[in-house]
Amino acid sequence: MSAQNRGLQRPILNAKVNFPVTLAPMVGLSHVAFRRLLRGYLPTGACTIWPTEMLNSRRIPGENLAKTPETMRAPEETELVPQILGNEERPIALSVARLEHEWGAAGVDINMGCPVKKALNHNYGVALMGDSGYAAEVVRMTVANTRLPVSVKLRAMSVFDAGSTTGSTSHSTSPSASAADLSYLLKFVRGLEEAGASWITLHPRTAEQKRRGSADWRQIRELREAISLPVIGNGDIQTADDALAMLESTGCDMAMIGRALTARPWLLWQLGEELGFAAPPGREGERAPRSPLEEGREYGRALKTCLIYMREHFSDDLALRKFRFLVRTGSPWLHFGQDLYARSTKAKTLDELACALEVFFAGEQPMAARTELRQ
Ligand SMILES: Cc1cc2nc3c(=O)[nH]c(=O)nc-3n(C[C@H](O)[C@H](O)[C@H](O)COP(=O)(O)O)c2cc1C
Repeated sequence: MSAQNRGLQRPILNAKVNFPVTLAPMVGLSHVAFRRLLRGYLPTGACTIWPTEMLNSRRIPGENLAKTPETMRAPEETELVPQILGNEERPIALSVARLEHEWGAAGVDINMGCPVKKALNHNYGVALMGDSGYAAEVVRMTVANTRLPVSVKLRAMSVFDAGSTTGSTSHSTSPSASAADLSYLLKFVRGLEEAGASWITLHPRTAEQKRRGSADWRQIRELREAISLPVIGNGDIQTADDALAMLESTGCDMAMIGRALTARPWLLWQLGEELGFAAPPGREGERAPRSPLEEGREYGRALKTCLIYMREHFSDDLALRKFRFLVRTGSPWLHFGQDLYARSTKAKTLDELACALEVFFAGEQPMAARTELRQ
């Protein structure tokens, strides 16, 4: 039976969700234009969940959600699970009410992984992982204020760090977290489950690591085996084969991909092929790009499409900035990615940028399967 018919083993969000890969929430990147681009690569018949970048619960109550770049959405967007950052009931209650009733969220995710100083000062983000009782309380207060499913995105705790991450790209050779570390994680997550969380996403890298070193996938497996909630695994996926490897080696219900999707949005299509899904709408009869040159060509096509979407949603200045950031994050997979980034920073208008893309991608631009993942 194809994966398409099977759906997910443990349902995430709703019974329609049948595709085991999702985009990661990323500040400045997981916006409406990029989500639309990715949706275009989703195989026909596939349905997954979609994030926003993290949204501060103190700000959402007063924002114009339709006009704020972080909360802009397109009419065709469904299965949206915005991510909120916060720890106080009133702003959380007001935020989730607006997201549910005005904005059309299908679920709400709570960020317990943000390591930036501001979040730590306010005692939210990854700071919540230091206090399991309080973290559970944040879930409880969120659940109490919405009928939507509530999920939590976590990092590994720093106590896990003892030798478990080596900076290598291998996910099978790094030693597991200690028993005490794991037992803290499991106790922590059981508290979230009792408080009403519907699923957990784990990015097994500590706050100290930020995005350096490598993610310890074994912790995803340990979590998967120990709890009954669905688990989304995240960290260091670069290719469709990596996504399959994470799903298979950890047993997680879904794999979340951040940086690599900025370079290879058609990874959704490649994975769909492996899982027996049909090509994305409009690409019927085509195979997903696979060779370095095919991928390089598709990258050019994807960037041009994303620029069109950015133009539709953002002011020219913001579109320029967001486009450059997208290129900065994704271009390391391109052999001449630095050149592309330099050209995108040199362009002072969207028209100049569109011309620069035409010129750059008029030649063949091979892509690498892997790159050194950086911040
Ligand atoms: C530019 C950038 C911004 C990010 N912003 C967020 C965020 O808003 N919320 C969050 O939970 N994680 C955030 N992350 C972390 C990602 O969701 C993800 O956990 C991390 O990039 C590891 O996945 P990857 O190896 O597939 O990129 C961000 C990562 C990047 C690169």
